[in-house]
Amino acid sequence: MTDGNDRSILVWDLPTRLFHWLLAGAVLAAWLTGEADALLAWHVFFGTAVLLLIPFRLVWGILGSLHARFSNFIQPWPVVRHYLLALLQRKAPRYIGHNPAAGWAIVLLMTLSFLTALLGFASIGGEEQRGPLATLLSYWQGKLFGELHEGLANGLMALVIVHLTGVIVGSLVHRENLIAAMLHGRKIVNDRDEPVAIIRPYRAVAILPILLLLLAAWQTPRLLATTPLVQNDSWNRACSDCHLPFHPSLLPRDSWLAMLEPGAAHFGDILALDAATTETLKQFVLAHGAGSGSMTTGAGNRIVHSIAAGKTPWRIIETPYWLRKHRKIKDSLWNHHEVRSKVRCEACHKDARTGLFEKQAIQMPQP
Ligand code: HEC
Ligand code: HEC
Repeated sequence: MTDGNDRSILVWDLPTRLFHWLLAGAVLAAWLTGEADALLAWHVFFGTAVLLLIPFRLVWGILGSLHARFSNFIQPWPVVRHYLLALLQRKAPRYIGHNPAAGWAIVLLMTLSFLTALLGFASIGGEEQRGPLATLLSYWQGKLFGELHEGLANGLMALVIVHLTGVIVGSLVHRENLIAAMLHGRKIVNDRDEPVAIIRPYRAVAILPILLLLLAAWQTPRLLATTPLVQNDSWNRACSDCHLPFHPSLLPRDSWLAMLEPGAAHFGDILALDAATTETLKQFVLAHGAGSGSMTTGAGNRIVHSIAAGKTPWRIIETPYWLRKHRKIKDSLWNHHEVRSKVRCEACHKDARTGLFEKQAIQMPQP
């Protein structure tokens, strides 16, 4: 390393370096924002960034400069094995670009991050009925994809640790700072190294990953959008006199149909509905009640999912999910003058009318 012929050459072009750090940042940030509901928009933004950055790298792996190209660093397994064995005997040859082990780590890292992000969209699409996959996937499918999403994210983090270990080992074995090289793009070479072609810097292409980030930020609200929520004037008119017109996704279709039967007792009241209105409301709950296939709210999905199969309760507040979510609320609060009845969802949930019941929209009455 101290030969007289040492010279510094550009190894990593700017687009490759920028991609590397943006992807690393997006994956780490997505990991950190994964658990908190309040950070969902950020989480989706970072996931979208991953989904857009990786196709860019795939193209750059074909069109990019010498060491950015897959043909430069993806080697067949025997070569990788040979490299790893040589590494154990501390005889690993130095590669100016990625070594064969790093090449495979890169392929795996990109595949796993892409799949993880994709499964994230499948998860909110099914479970929350939000984003581009909403209405295409059921609650159950979303739940399954959500589990896979978490599993892959954990696998990805394990792989990141392997990758970092590889970078540290590589830096020690060849006595060079690989992290710094990925920052400024340069490495020291001398006559003992494989000859390297001088690359063109392609700096202008680095604008593309930046544009992709902006695209991700611009699209995030759309990717989080709920499918338009159903509203129905007859429903609002017939049900608003005594309480909130509950969103039809909150109970099974058959519960609503039974409630709408002419003459059915209604919690001590009578719903005096004429035949035409009854018919309109029945059509409405058939189209939008839980079980109709058009599951428009995550809250509805979770409430109905907690009901035993075939049961058609009339009370939302007696479903297992509702009871579980509200068991910690004290009696003094239920008796609060702004609440009085558990059925007054809107006393605490400012978005109760929409049926969404987002955590962020909870505002408890002041004691
Ligand atoms: C004349 C007044 C009145 C009208 C109109 C009315 N309800 Fe009710 N509803 C009640 C009362 C009273 C309760 C019980 C409230 C309580 O327990 O505090 C109730 C409770 C409910 C509940 C149970 C909520 C729960 O989780 O316990 C549902 C569901 C419901 N109503 C649906 C409807 C629908 C759908 C309509 C319109 C078609 C409607 N109601 C119109 C008086 C009415
Ligand atoms: C006295 C206030 C209050 C009333 C009234 C109330 N809730 Fe809640 N609700 C809460 C609180 C607080 C939570 C958050 C519980 C937690 O997860 O810590 C919650 C959670 C929920 C959740 C889960 C939200 C999530 O994403 O985890 C749903 C769904 C929900 N409520 C539906 C209802 C419905 C439907 C009604 C009316 C029938 C209702 N709530 C009435 C206070 C209330």
